[in-house]
Amino acid sequence: MRVASLLSCAAALSAGLVAAIDSRYFWDKARLLRQQQNRASAAPVLPAVPVRATNGSVFHNANTTKFAVQGDAIPDVDFDAGESYAGQLPIGGDSDGQLFFWFWPTTNTDEPQEILIWLNGGPGCSSLEGLLQENGPISWQAGTYAPVRNPWSWHHLTNVVYIEQPVGTGFSTGTVTARNEDDVADQFMGFWRHFVDTFGLHGYKVFITGESYA
Ligand SMILES: *[C@@H]1O[C@H](CO)[C@@H](O)[C@H](O)[C@H]1NC(C)=O
Ligand SMILES: *[C@@H]1O[C@H](CO)[C@@H](O)[C@H](O)[C@H]1NC(C)=O
Repeated sequence: MRVASLLSCAAALSAGLVAAIDSRYFWDKARLLRQQQNRASAAPVLPAVPVRATNGSVFHNANTTKFAVQGDAIPDVDFDAGESYAGQLPIGGDSDGQLFFWFWPTTNTDEPQEILIWLNGGPGCSSLEGLLQENGPISWQAGTYAPVRNPWSWHHLTNVVYIEQPVGTGFSTGTVTARNEDDVADQFMGFWRHFVDTFGLHGYKVFITGESYA
């Protein structure tokens, strides 16, 4: 009899313990679920993105107007991407080659007197990959239906130009002649002279970067 009541007492105690554990487990679960639901329903908070106007820009002049891209009318892009310039400039010499560029003046109001050149690798890979999928203002990721604004675009820090090179790469057209790295460099320097003259970048600090074998 004593043994039996002791046993039933122990059983009751352990049942109580289980209930206590159960309820703590339940409340923890509920709290976790609530947190997950809150996270799912809140829209992601992105930093405010400055947009640079073409009007009044130091880069907008008689020589550059023909390259000006209307930032709020880029096909498939449903936001104003701001000031930019795209097109081709010759590599010079006796070549018919032209390199394609897309230049994004910085939204940084300090207006740093510098420009960053971005090259995707290869040589021979399209630098629009870097622009549209990596560090540019318009981000269109694989598996998504539409491009979105990239609040972390590098042009928020400094002036950035994406260049497709050598001739024959992407939208860079002309007779393909480059056979080695010296040829690629010569083409680039020919183009760069024209680019600096067109956009009045004399005296600007130049940074060159890219990915892979750029
Ligand atoms: C842009 O420039 C045009 C003419 O050059 C002017 O009429 C217009 O008001 C300007 N727009 C802005 C937003 O400054
Ligand atoms: C346009 O280019 C020409 C030739 O390089 C230059 O003399 C002129 O100053 C440029 N105009 C502007 C507004 O930058």
